[in-house]
Amino acid sequence: MNNESQPTLLPGYNPGSPEVACSPISLDELEQIKASAYFNDEDASFLRLSYDVLKDQAEELVKAWRAIIAQHPHLSVYSKDLRTGETDNEYSEGVGRRFAQWVLDTARAEYDQKWLDYQYEIGLRHHRTKKNQTDRAHTAPHIRARDLIAFSAAIVVPMRPYLEKGGHSPEMVNRMLDAWWKSMILQVTLWSQPYVNPGDF
Ligand code: HEM
Repeated sequence: MNNESQPTLLPGYNPGSPEVACSPISLDELEQIKASAYFNDEDASFLRLSYDVLKDQAEELVKAWRAIIAQHPHLSVYSKDLRTGETDNEYSEGVGRRFAQWVLDTARAEYDQKWLDYQYEIGLRHHRTKKNQTDRAHTAPHIRARDLIAFSAAIVVPMRPYLEKGGHSPEMVNRMLDAWWKSMILQVTLWSQPYVNPGDF
């Protein structure tokens, strides 16, 4: 069962639902961005190979990424309730569960219209257009583009030990990590669209 996401079981994680925005770019244009990111079918295969390795580790990965965020006040501030100044734990936990699901969907590497639309939605949910809406939260209204984009490195670099746990050769682990890098850059490129001046994307 590694090719079906289960949005109904996960509040707010809803690829394919009517509330999700439609991507302003086409699947053909997505192919061009994939080419710009040096992403090919072999990378998709290596992402899929990482699925089995990561499927029971997604929550651990989210914890590791959260630990990085927690070390930096300019990042942890995005989950604080503006009314109390305290971290909104319910919000953080809800977002964390969707984040873990994202790990699996990234590893599935299925680039259809539903996936493309959801990438736009994820960008909007970091941007002031939709941040806080899914969870009806009262945290900072917007994540700065500089933090969103730069955090790509904090996502991929710590993944190596998790990918190594699958027992694959170092060469295969490197190939999976390269595929994750390319996919992360591809996705953060798509997520940046709401941040870019109209006509400039
Ligand atoms: C490039 C790296 C990043 C990745 C892969 C990532 C991934 C995700 C994912 C998958 C979601 C859930 C989307 C959904 O609702 O289905 C999400 C939401 C969120 N992320 Fe990120 N994120 C990144 C960068 C950041 C940074 C730097 C911060 C701030 C420290 C951040 C804070 C948040 C918050 C607060 C939400 C909830 C937004 C909302 O109100 O709906 N993210 N992120």
